Amino acid sequence: MERSEDAGVFKLTDDLAIVQTVDFFTPIVDDPYDFGRITVANSLSDVYAMGARPLTALNVVCFPQAAMDFSVLRKVLEGGLDMMHEADVILLGGHTVDDPELKYGLSVTGVIHPDKVVHNNAARPGDVLVLTKPIGTGIISTAIKAGTASPAAIKRITDSMAALNRAASEAMVALGAHACKDVTGFGLLGHAAEMIEGTHVGMEINSAAVPLFPETKEYYEKGMFAAGLRRNRAFRKNMVTFAPSVPDYLQDLLFDPQTSGGLLIALPASKAPRLQEKLKKSGIKAPVIGKVVAQHKSRIKVI
Ligand code: CO
Ligand code: CO
Repeated sequence: MERSEDAGVFKLTDDLAIVQTVDFFTPIVDDPYDFGRITVANSLSDVYAMGARPLTALNVVCFPQAAMDFSVLRKVLEGGLDMMHEADVILLGGHTVDDPELKYGLSVTGVIHPDKVVHNNAARPGDVLVLTKPIGTGIISTAIKAGTASPAAIKRITDSMAALNRAASEAMVALGAHACKDVTGFGLLGHAAEMIEGTHVGMEINSAAVPLFPETKEYYEKGMFAAGLRRNRAFRKNMVTFAPSVPDYLQDLLFDPQTSGGLLIALPASKAPRLQEKLKKSGIKAPVIGKVVAQHKSRIKVI
């Protein structure tokens, strides 16, 4: 747990370990069915980030019985169940409590060979960093809460957040990736920092290569960002150096808290084209956004 792994791993036998995780949160989109899908994609993501295969799940639900119609909860759970079907995950049960605010999530159990776990901190010099989803869901969902997000922007982030990281996970395992982390609440650079904290490697991130949702900059400039963004940045200020050429807005965006973000994968540079080719077949763009270096240990330089 001290190494900020995405999920817990418990070895049962020499060739079988279980991978467990729990995640739940409040709605980030207005549509209850989409909220259910997004939550499940997000909860499964920690298992995928370990290179494991999720098998079963339990629903975790908080529901304001007095204030909300039961049909809303039904839609949320329907969206969740559809996503679990898509992921070949079996829902075994769940638990609901009465709570002032709607919350939904999953406790997930997956399996993996104990020697095949993709840890978050095993990146090596010579690796490149590949990112499998664009950045900006925090900013755009803040705009949704303020009622100022365009329908196109809402659709784009909904589709992205409800997309499983399954194909990306299977492809990185097949190609022998060294390390992986899913990008969530600490933002891209926050999770990148977790991958090298206390290790003997550093990172270089090419800010211009980081994919952003089209509306991200515009909404950010209108002040549409959550408090978590600046908190994330302050928390990692001693590990991250920005070249003067990186515009200020972009420095902030790289810390935007993500929901159900993509995988940040470290793998040998020679294998990146194969990974990109495989993911392209699943409709996933996976640009190289940086590299792992032997210099400036445990620090990230953003150029
Ligand atoms: Co995670
Ligand atoms: Co998590």
